[in-house]
Amino acid sequence: MHIDLVDRDLYATAGPPHDQLAWLRANSPVHWHEGEPGFWAVSRYEDVVHVSRHSDLFSSHKKLALFEDLSEDQIALQRLMMLNQDPPEHTRRRSLVNRGFTPRTIGALEQHIRDICDDLLDKLTGEVDFVTEIAAPLPLYVICELLGAPVSDRDKVFNWSNRMIGAQDPDYSASPEEGSNAAMEVYAYANQLAAQRRANPKNDIVTKLLQPDEHGETLDENEFDLFVLLLVVAGNETTRNAASGGMLALFEHPDQWDRLVADPTMAKTASDEIVRWVSPVNLFRRTSTTDQVLGGQQIKADDKVVVFYSSANRDTTVFPDAEVFDIGRDPNPHIGFGGGGAHFCLGNHLAKLELRILFEQLARRHPRLRQTGPARRLRSNFINGIKELPITIG
Ligand code: HEM
Repeated sequence: MHIDLVDRDLYATAGPPHDQLAWLRANSPVHWHEGEPGFWAVSRYEDVVHVSRHSDLFSSHKKLALFEDLSEDQIALQRLMMLNQDPPEHTRRRSLVNRGFTPRTIGALEQHIRDICDDLLDKLTGEVDFVTEIAAPLPLYVICELLGAPVSDRDKVFNWSNRMIGAQDPDYSASPEEGSNAAMEVYAYANQLAAQRRANPKNDIVTKLLQPDEHGETLDENEFDLFVLLLVVAGNETTRNAASGGMLALFEHPDQWDRLVADPTMAKTASDEIVRWVSPVNLFRRTSTTDQVLGGQQIKADDKVVVFYSSANRDTTVFPDAEVFDIGRDPNPHIGFGGGGAHFCLGNHLAKLELRILFEQLARRHPRLRQTGPARRLRSNFINGIKELPITIG
């Protein structure tokens, strides 16, 4: 079979190449993928989990966790982010920020998230684009809430985030320079926010993250600003595409939408199934730290290793009916938030809460919701994304 897991045009037309990935799982689960440079494509659930849980053998720092090979300048900035660090550097920062993302801290945001969803759904009239009106603003407004940013700053943060996202897709108007300028503006904004909270502490997550933990450790100024930037990047496009991909999956499986409308409390299991089915983050990269055997293949130190969550989430050894979109699936051990280990998604409780509330409110308030035109997909092999999804509330 012809294997090309990189071609962005394929992703733009059809999403992740599930046929090729299924073939790889059955025939070549750790597969040398030609390219500049080539990489090992890891497609089975078991191997993705193994790689994710052994940061000593598969580094996120050596050549970054990102798929693309970046310029030296970009690498220098990216290296400072937690996502691209290995233990023990990673461990200290992660434990400092974990405090803001426990199920309890996130659970306390439930009413705020309900209010944000209600406001967005109140504005829906006639024919609109689901991505622009719902999927994109929801995670951004929630991050603003998390940061304690005033409502009047939401549009500003939304605009920075769109410019950062736009810089990656030629269909959007932003240039790469605009993207980096927007990132610098987020960084400066974080700095200002931190100064305000130090001077005037509040009962919010930012204040909590700026305070020393029980061992007296704190994030320094630079670490805090970089963390806010990571939040805006990692918490935003992922959730946006889970929401829009989930909506599309429900349109494509009307029996599942009817189930949700009949019992909106199913939104809890539905949101997990959406993350499994969509796998909004298609892949992450690691670098082998040593010569070793993975899935029966001999790989060398410094080889590029790419784990495909979209593939692992359709592995029939774990999900016997993996090709069925079932919003009642329970248990659902998907690895859409990562395969466990040090970098497991910090925002997973938050993302699940947002998706649960969104789909519950949609099913309750707009049971006659319909798709009115084709979805347009993002031209990306990293984020399984949707740029446009025309709908009517019926
Ligand atoms: C890491 C997926 C939402 C913050 C990750 C990873 C994945 C992921 C696959 C990497 C795991 C690994 O390398 O092992 C997703 C998906 C989301 C989502 C599918 C939505 C459906 C969020 C949200 C936030 C967030 C809402 C925060 C507000 C982060 C951070 C990391 C991360 C900070 C890096 C953690 C670390 O390096 O320790 N996410 N994410 N994510 N995510 Fe998420």
